[in-house]
Amino acid sequence: MNVFVAGGSGFVGRSVCRVLVDRGHGVTAASRTPDPSELPADVEAVSVDVTDPDLDDAVAGHDAVVNLVALPSHVQARGRSHESVHADGTRHLVAASERTGVDRFVQLSGLGVDSGVETAYFKAKRRAERIVRESSLEWVIFRPSVIFGDGCAFVPFLERLAPPLVIPLPGGGRTPLQPIWVEDLTPLIADGLAEDRHVGNAYEIGGPERLTLAEIVTRVRDGVVVPIPMALTAVLATLVDPLPWIPVGRDQYRALTLENTTRNDALAAFDVDPDSLRPFSADVPSEGEISAAASSEPVRRERRTDGKRHTSAEPHTDGEPHTRSERPERDSGVRP
Ligand SMILES: NC(=O)c1ccc[n+]([C@@H]2O[C@H](COP(=O)([O-])OP(=O)(O)OC[C@H]3O[C@@H](n4cnc5c(N)ncnc54)[C@H](OP(=O)(O)O)[C@@H]3O)[C@@H](O)[C@H]2O)c1
Repeated sequence: MNVFVAGGSGFVGRSVCRVLVDRGHGVTAASRTPDPSELPADVEAVSVDVTDPDLDDAVAGHDAVVNLVALPSHVQARGRSHESVHADGTRHLVAASERTGVDRFVQLSGLGVDSGVETAYFKAKRRAERIVRESSLEWVIFRPSVIFGDGCAFVPFLERLAPPLVIPLPGGGRTPLQPIWVEDLTPLIADGLAEDRHVGNAYEIGGPERLTLAEIVTRVRDGVVVPIPMALTAVLATLVDPLPWIPVGRDQYRALTLENTTRNDALAAFDVDPDSLRPFSADVPSEGEISAAASSEPVRRERRTDGKRHTSAEPHTDGEPHTRSERPERDSGVRP
């Protein structure tokens, strides 16, 4: 199959491209400024902006499209909005796919789009899902919880927001999340693309652990969580909302009221045992490991079982455990 991966140069996109190439597909990675040196070998990079209504030339000649284009949830930069990138971008990709004879369309949505929590990100993602469902294409939708792994935005975002030692969190950080490892998610996306039985399905995908935001933050940072009352958080979020350099505002406050965990176990549809998935706790290096890696000392990562911070000696996909210093640059966004 020839697969057009829109957003193929991103965090999830690079992993999707790698899995598709490994499975023998022809892969085109499309984004505004793709860097071929960051893409797996045998992936063709093309420069495309999905806010352009005419994508026919770019999409023509492909059997399937995977839409992984993203705008970090807090970004509402001039000329770029969730509506234009997620909703209009999806509309343009779907229309080009229909016009050029693409059969299958895989859409990365987000857990919580239909939860009733109204943010600009969710509204645009919901509209995008509707466009895909109403198309004439063979579609599959994935709604993952937060995704972690090499190059993710989630962990650096928490690091930026959470000071060490004393960590103020809205409501004490009780929001539940179900982080999924990118390398566990992307084979499912490749299955969704290739197997007829997935056509017409929307899958909610979460990882093996249900962790509160506080549990996640204290695995990233050593410290004590100090609750900020939600009412005070709402006022502060409203005050900072117009300040574009502050990465949190009213939408992030609203997202904190969302249970970002799955209602259905979609993993069964892919014959995946949840216990085989990588827990978030296993991916987070300790502060000691980060400093050791920074000073080039050899790092030994060991799995702990005391429930506090777990790191892992399990190999990554390249066969070696990764240290923080080995990780590629990450963007500054987080979603939802
Ligand atoms: N990461 C998560 O925790 C998470 C959770 C739930 C759902 N998702 C969904 O998963 C998908 C992938 O997310 P990600 O984390 O991989 O995002 P990412 O790392 O920010 O990658 C976004 C990709 O989209 C491209 N892009 C942005 N604007 C574009 C435009 N106008 N035209 C063409 N390409 C454009 C970017 O490349 P350029 O900048 O070069 O254009 C990049 O390749 C998204 O649909 C996201 O909503 C992610």
